[in-house]
Amino acid sequence: MTSDPSPPARRMSDELWNSRFLKACRREAVDATPVWLMRQAGRYMSEYRSLRSKVSFLELCKSPELAAETTIFAAETLGVDAAILFADILLILEPLGFHLEFSKGEGPVIHNPIREPADVADMEPLTDVSSLGYVYEAVRLIRAGLPSGLPLIGFAGAPFTLACYAIEGGGSRHYEKAKTFMYSHPAAWNALMTILTDSTARYLNAQVDAGAQVVQLFDSWVGSLGPDEYRRFVQPHMRRLFDQIDPEVPSIHFGTDTGSLLELQRDAGGSVIGLDWRVELDKCWERLGPEVAVQGNLDPITLFAPLSEIAAQTRRILDQAGGRPGHIFNLGHGILPHTPVDHVRALVQMVHEFSVK
Ligand code: CP3
Repeated sequence: MTSDPSPPARRMSDELWNSRFLKACRREAVDATPVWLMRQAGRYMSEYRSLRSKVSFLELCKSPELAAETTIFAAETLGVDAAILFADILLILEPLGFHLEFSKGEGPVIHNPIREPADVADMEPLTDVSSLGYVYEAVRLIRAGLPSGLPLIGFAGAPFTLACYAIEGGGSRHYEKAKTFMYSHPAAWNALMTILTDSTARYLNAQVDAGAQVVQLFDSWVGSLGPDEYRRFVQPHMRRLFDQIDPEVPSIHFGTDTGSLLELQRDAGGSVIGLDWRVELDKCWERLGPEVAVQGNLDPITLFAPLSEIAAQTRRILDQAGGRPGHIFNLGHGILPHTPVDHVRALVQMVHEFSVK
């Protein structure tokens, strides 16, 4: 392995720079495979549910102290190799003019979704991202409160996934409103994607300035597109987004159901490509080539199964990674609300134990 080049512009301690997680992001050899889990702080934890019985989800996101406490508690309880900021991908829609609500049982609702091209003409990119100051304050508090060698991941929603919410007005099965808008009004679509892209780049850079070591882009719903549509309607924007992020800061490019899009996602950018459980890690890494790291890819439902099944699938994924530098163990998507906490903790231990050099 190449030795640590220690670039002069480095914004972190040696301890953070040499953490397992950041080494794996840079495809350097590690003592054991780093692991963290999407939605590692959430409803499957009784402490989280108890906090949520007192404050709403948006109140929690907007309280830097509570968001920091939630982030740090989850990372420390699980013994993972990275913390992820407690926030939500939809928060950026508020300063862009959308009325966001998280209603019980229904998930997120946007009360004034985009209906026609004229609605986009009224929008402006966030030039000043200080309206999301509570997020950067949470990042500062988390960085100050985390063990000094534990990296912090900042994140944002990718423009396609945000555009889906902004047009659908909430979750959707087929994204028919968003995709109809995209096919019918390509100029307005591109204007919307441009606004989301530029706003998101500034938002992520502000998270990095506040103390995040890595950023992850969640393109959770992009798997609803075929390769040609991805190329036409999404890829140029993703490329511009990644181009606006400091190349010293590792970036994780995550989507689900993207088995047919992986090369296009890689070409759009990101030092780490996220894989869900529908694909085989070894075959995908082969397709992606040696210039990127990979993250994944246990089916979150496996965590409901007996420990023997969790162990078998963990070994299988680690075998597929084959000890090559640049694998970050994760689920293929977020932890589900009723997941047994002891299985989550056991998974983290198994990843370390089975992969230790
Ligand atoms: O990973 C983490 O621990 C960090 C926190 C985080 C949350 N949401 C907390 C959250 C992250 C990274 C997200 C990202 C997010 N939010 C995505 C992309 C990832 C994915 O799952 O695909 C999406 C699509 C959203 C939008 C969103 N936020 C939905 C659809 C929901 C409802 C989910 C549900 O099951 O009700 C949320 C709410 C949300 N975001 C919760 C949490 C812990 C649950 C809120 C609650 O306490 O009731």
